[in-house]
Amino acid sequence: MSTSARRSREIEQDRYAAAKQILSRIAAIAEHPGSRTTRLIQASREFSVSLLHDAQQDLAMAAGRSAEGPDKFAALGIPVATQPEFKAPAVDGSLAMLWCRVVEERPTGDHILFVGEIQGAVTNDRKFDALLRYRRRYLRMGHWTSEEAPEGYPT
Ligand SMILES: Cc1cc2nc3c(=O)[nH]c(=O)nc-3n(C[C@H](O)[C@H](O)[C@H](O)COP(=O)(O)O)c2cc1C
Repeated sequence: MSTSARRSREIEQDRYAAAKQILSRIAAIAEHPGSRTTRLIQASREFSVSLLHDAQQDLAMAAGRSAEGPDKFAALGIPVATQPEFKAPAVDGSLAMLWCRVVEERPTGDHILFVGEIQGAVTNDRKFDALLRYRRRYLRMGHWTSEEAPEGYPT
């Protein structure tokens, strides 16, 4: 490989590494203006993200609308996971839970985009069947469609 080809390959790899480092620290959510969740995020400047397991579909369906009373998790019987220094509850039993501090709040169309820096994370390596949603329906993950990529290949 020529020196210039090697250099441009290094730059490509660096770009990939840089993007991965930035993205792995950032999470973004789009929220309805005026919802209780939005008001709580705006007051606390923090939010959590729970990546649900496919066994948690009932919970997702219940949590997709407002609930009575001051504590939605208690009202719906949602198991709570907490992280020191954060008020935002996460959904216990999820594949992954992230706790974020808001670093940017921006109106985007009919939603508000909250960009958060991930400060805490808990992952459950024994669970990998994520609850998915497509065309207004929930669905399960399917099957592998290729062999595993070689070590070091971008995932
Ligand atoms: C499948 C699904 C996806 C949703 N996605 C969003 C979303 O991205 N942002 C949002 O603000 N609300 C979304 N909602 C609606 C919120 O879940 C709902 O407005 C919220 O639970 C109201 O609760 P609150 O009163 O506790 O804020 C979604 C609902 C469903 C069923």
